[in-house]
This record gives sequence, structure tokens and C-alpha cells, in this order.
Amino acid sequence: MNPYHYLRPLLFRLDPERAHNRTLALLARMPSFMPRYHGGKPVELMGLTFPNRLGLAAGLDKNGIAVSAFDRAGFGFIEVGTVTPRPQPGNPQPRLFRLPEHEAIINRMGFNNRGIDALITRLAATPKPHALLGINLGKNKDTPNEEALTDYRIGLQKAWAHADYLTINISSPNTAGLRELQHGAALRELLAGIKAEQQRLTVETARRVPIVVKIAPDLDDTALHATLDTIAEADMDGIIATNTTLDKSAVEHHPHGGEQGGLSGAPLTAASTAIVQKIRAHLPHIALIASGGVMSAADMQAKRDAGADLVQIYSGLIYHGPQLVRDCLRQLERG
Ligand SMILES: Cc1cc2nc3c(=O)[nH]c(=O)nc-3n(C[C@H](O)[C@H](O)[C@H](O)COP(=O)(O)O)c2cc1C
Repeated sequence: MNPYHYLRPLLFRLDPERAHNRTLALLARMPSFMPRYHGGKPVELMGLTFPNRLGLAAGLDKNGIAVSAFDRAGFGFIEVGTVTPRPQPGNPQPRLFRLPEHEAIINRMGFNNRGIDALITRLAATPKPHALLGINLGKNKDTPNEEALTDYRIGLQKAWAHADYLTINISSPNTAGLRELQHGAALRELLAGIKAEQQRLTVETARRVPIVVKIAPDLDDTALHATLDTIAEADMDGIIATNTTLDKSAVEHHPHGGEQGGLSGAPLTAASTAIVQKIRAHLPHIALIASGGVMSAADMQAKRDAGADLVQIYSGLIYHGPQLVRDCLRQLERG
């Protein structure tokens, strides 16, 4: 019996953002003596030992309020954020849409979050999870791209002591201009500054925290290769591929298909896996974390087969609940 089978229709009757907030608030209050689901096998990557290859993608628990619950669900790593230096409200509601006929979501949340200080306070009060913890960093909406490095530097400094790895998010479609940081001199200068800060903090704290860059799926081959070369030249530790897509052609006939924002879930699966494959072909040794349309254990295996070291889920969890975590972990034990 899968209890989520009964819970989902109730949740889907609520406004999506309300359902999201209520579920998270409930998970945040789950007692810490709840048993932990164990599955998968440990893996070494970026100098870290991940308890297993399955992770929670960024954006679901932006403020890190339910880390213990996701830890007990069996994830090998949990990525909180995107968090910005200062708190910000995000875009006006409604900004989150379900497209159940497509097992898809469109969102234009716009980095709504309580800010890095609140996140750190929350994490400091959370029992250390068995899962590794990633903190996904962004820039505030009102910080111009020319000053983006300042925001990411604040994020690195404040999150450093609390994270197993850090993610530089330059691929959300919902902060105007953010994705421009994925290209050319803007990317080169940003990553050079981030690398310098990583080196400085490593010496200062005598502890090295790996840094990964999260990229969009909407890059043609020329742009993708240029971005990958810059990431490699900047000696980043890894890549997360991919964020949500702006290509909504697969859902254009759905009543919500014309909503502004990024599309995730089943319509993203193939395009995102294709990017993973291209990254692996171009950079055979970089740590590669796949994200995009993992709705089943088979989708997860396809990401692994395409060359991903680790795999994250978000929309799949909304449509299939915690059973998807267990299915994926069982598959990882076989694979
Ligand atoms: C409602 C929503 C909010 C998201 N917020 C973030 C975010 O703050 N930062 C980020 O890097 N990705 C964010 N994402 C993208 C996910 O982390 C993931 O990369 C993307 O949804 C593709 O995976 P999926 O198809 O499994 O959902 C968000 C996705 C959704 C659906």
C-alpha cells in the first residue's frame, strides 16, 4: 500500500503553493524519533562520501526547515535553497502551477526565501543529518549582474561552515538576467571570483568545500560546450544538470501551458538526460549531478547510464511521494 496514493488527491485539491507550504510545515514538525529509511550504497565523489546517489533537488526546502524529515526519507543528500544574501518575497502569487496530465510543474517563484542568516540559524539548530547537505546560492533580485559576485561571495562565506557542498545557481529562469551569467566573460569572471573565495576559505578554515555549478537545459551545443569549457577552466568541482526549461512546447495545449516560468517534471526528462550525456562526453571526469524529470526508478537509471554520478528529484516527489525515493534506492542497490 502506498499512502501517498490517498494523500495526493487531497493535496492536489489545494492551491499548489498552499499544499507545498502545509506539507513542508508538517514535515518540519515530524518527530525526530521517526525511523530512518536506509537504502542505496555509499559513493565517493568530490572528496565526500555520499550515503547513496539520490538527492533532493533545490527549491523544495528553500529555507531548510524539514531537513530531518528528508533525511529520514532516505535521501543520500539534501540540497536546501536557493538562498539569497537578503530575504526576499519572490514573485507575486500565483506562481506555482501543476499540470497533472503531463506530470509537470511550471514555477516562477523567483527565489522567495528568508535569507542566508535565517537558513544558517535553522541549520545550526537541526540535528546533523545522515545525508550530506548542499546549500544552493543565488543572488538577490535587486542585485545587478555586475555585482552578482558580491552576493555569491556572501553566500559562500556564510554557508561554508554549514554545507558539505555548495551550488552556484546561475540557471533559474525566474530572476531576470540570471541565466546571462552562464556565458562568456560574465561566467569567466564570476567563476574566477568564486574559485578565489573557495581557495581563501579553504586556507582560513582548514576545510575544503566543493563547489558545483547548476546549469539550464536550454543551451544549444555551441553554448553548452563554451559553458562547460569555462567551468572546467575555472576548476569547479562539479555540475548540476539541469534546472527547469523555458521550452513549454510539450504542454502548450494545457490550460496552464502558457504560464511564465520554468517547466519541470516528465516533459523535461529526455532533454535533461541528453544534456547529461553531452556533458559526460565533453568532460569525462567532472562530478556530474543529474536533475530533471526523474519520475521513476527507470528515469533515474537512465541518468546514471547517461553518465551522472548522482541524481536529484523534485517534481517526481510531488507526483509520486516518498515511494519514489524507495524505488530509486532499491534500483541503486541493484545497479
Ligand atoms: C517549485 C520549484 C521551485 C524550484 N526552485 C529552485 C531553486 O530555488 N533553485 C534551484 O536551483 N532549482 C530550483 N528548482 C529546480 C529543481 O531543483 C530541479 O532542478 C528542476 O525542477 C528539475 O527537476 P525535476 O524535473 O525533478 O523537478 C525548482 C523547481 C520547482 C518545481
